[in-house]
Amino acid sequence: MCVATIGLGLLAPAGPGWGQQLDVPTAIAARKDAYREMGAAFKNLNDELRKPKPIPFLVKLNAATIGKTAQRIPNWFPAGSGPSSGIKTAAKPEIWTKRGEFDAIQGKLVADAAALDKLVAAGDMKAVAAQARVVGGDCKACHDKFRVPED
Ligand code: HEC
Repeated sequence: MCVATIGLGLLAPAGPGWGQQLDVPTAIAARKDAYREMGAAFKNLNDELRKPKPIPFLVKLNAATIGKTAQRIPNWFPAGSGPSSGIKTAAKPEIWTKRGEFDAIQGKLVADAAALDKLVAAGDMKAVAAQARVVGGDCKACHDKFRVPED
């Protein structure tokens, strides 16, 4: 078993979000948890990349977490899991009225995160840092449009 697989086992245990349609409360809780994990992975990745000598293991682990988590996004937004659910969520109603646009940004994140994993495997940290900025642009593009800003 390779190192990334072990790391993923720890950080992203198979749980809600893999393949099945989730009920509304489960979906909202699962996506908040997973986005938090994605946010932590993205921060840790950038912290590492800012160091003069990034530790390849940590770069790989965090990049892989972003990629795996991104693939699960489509299962987290069943109909009715927006603000109308009555559950606290920062998801805007536009996710369901502009679903094509939302899914396109999500698909771009999956592709860009996969490209990130490839660059990590190739070991060129400059290229990895550039691609991490592209990935960050995807997070921002979706949040600007589909997430209520934090207070
Ligand atoms: C396709 C849209 C989309 C993309 C891409 C996306 N996000 Fe989000 N993100 C959301 C939405 C919607 C929420 C609000 C979820 C909720 O409150 O139900 C959210 C919430 C979050 C949260 C707050 C979780 C919490 O409740 O504490 C973090 C952190 C986060 N995202 C990080 C990221 C990072 C990092 C990336 C890129 C690597 C990213 N997101 C990419 C849509 C997206």
